[in-house]
Amino acid sequence: MSLNKAPNNNVFYRNQNWSYPRIVKGEGVYLYGEDGKRYLDACSGSAVANIGHGNSEIAEYTKELMSRIAFTHLSRWTVDTIEECARKVCQWTPGDLNHVYFVSGGSEATEAAIKLARQYYVERDGGKTSKWKVISKWTSFHGNTLGALAITGITGRKKMYDPMLAQFPKIPQFYHYRNQWGCETLEQTSIRCAQALEDEILKQGPENIMAFISEPVVGSAAPGVHPAPVYFKMVREICSKYDVLWIDDEVMAGFGRTGKKMAIEHFGNAIPDIICTAKGMSCGYTPIGAAIANDEVFRTIMVNGSGSFHHGHTYAGNPLSAGISLKVLEIMERERFVDHCEAQGEYLMKRLQELYRYPIVGDIRGKGLMIGIEFVKDQKTKQPFEPSEKVNTIVNNHCLELGISPYPGGGSADGFRGDHMQITPPINISREETDELFAALEGAIKKTCEEIL
Ligand SMILES: Cc1ncc(COP(=O)(O)O)c(C=O)c1O
Repeated sequence: MSLNKAPNNNVFYRNQNWSYPRIVKGEGVYLYGEDGKRYLDACSGSAVANIGHGNSEIAEYTKELMSRIAFTHLSRWTVDTIEECARKVCQWTPGDLNHVYFVSGGSEATEAAIKLARQYYVERDGGKTSKWKVISKWTSFHGNTLGALAITGITGRKKMYDPMLAQFPKIPQFYHYRNQWGCETLEQTSIRCAQALEDEILKQGPENIMAFISEPVVGSAAPGVHPAPVYFKMVREICSKYDVLWIDDEVMAGFGRTGKKMAIEHFGNAIPDIICTAKGMSCGYTPIGAAIANDEVFRTIMVNGSGSFHHGHTYAGNPLSAGISLKVLEIMERERFVDHCEAQGEYLMKRLQELYRYPIVGDIRGKGLMIGIEFVKDQKTKQPFEPSEKVNTIVNNHCLELGISPYPGGGSADGFRGDHMQITPPINISREETDELFAALEGAIKKTCEEIL
């Protein structure tokens, strides 16, 4: 039964079981409530407000740009901001990922990527190509629209819609903490998981497999989980061997969040065929995202093929959002925020190790400032709490009382059970603010232990 806690107005809120504090202002890493309470935004919304709130340089630039040109349709016009933003994005992406297909968010980016993959094979091999399946992983999240949800692997979020979804094959996540083989090292787990990709391609028949999609560092499905570098080396080799496109979903991990420009750089030199991005591309100052294609995919469709991608959204590639994203990326470069993120991430990760002394802390993992903490009933057996115990809600409520706002979630253990918390503060967070975040987080975990154990 609904708890009907959301404000009673005309907004269709996402969740009636939550009483939404009203925010009146954001400044730097802080959000301010109408009651004057200050919250350190320990999750940047959901890894979105990566350069903090209330940036006046972006506000002034936006005002100027809006009065010059706010909207043109990308099917008919081009504008300098669109071209310059695409050029800048490609300076952040590795290899020959040189072709930016703009969209307005993460689910649109993954949807565009899988349609791009399908059209690539149709244009290359003719309409009779049998390639259409996308392999993805359990305990992954790629978005909530129907195509994106079909490739999403976290079962709790898709169960309701299952009859409406294309049934794409799934393989195990590189989730070392809960690996099914009893592997003792991350490297061993990573190898088993990459072998599972080859096994699945062979089982399904390579002639039917169009793409493999993976987050480089997992977001809300199992925050902070990542493989050893060998994983993506093997993924690249397997995808090339069986003529499968590799889609790298950096919607959350991209644009500096992990302490590298793109998170895939943590894992050797393997270059994907398509990268999906959104969130950090504009850091919340405008909705924008992109599916970025390599030369081969682009040329096959757009130069040697029909010349037209059968897809598109009205707001995709609008000059206002492109200009704002460009400005955000220029600021990140000028202020060296990615290097800062790497340093603060290392510092925070070191401090977080202290939390293992609390018996509900099972696993702490991540890259840069994309960190996840998993809570367990028993540190030894890794037994998760039951969803009815609402452990992530309890920790989160204590965090809010103590003035920080992380991103709670569940389902990482088996799709339904498994409480976790995503710690993704703005990547320009200072050392003092990082200490403040840590102190409040520790306080919240301590209080939770006192309450539930
Ligand atoms: C890896 C990943 N892909 C796709 C999405 C979907 O993005 P959006 O919510 O902007 O549609 C998300 C959102 O959190 C994500 O983390």
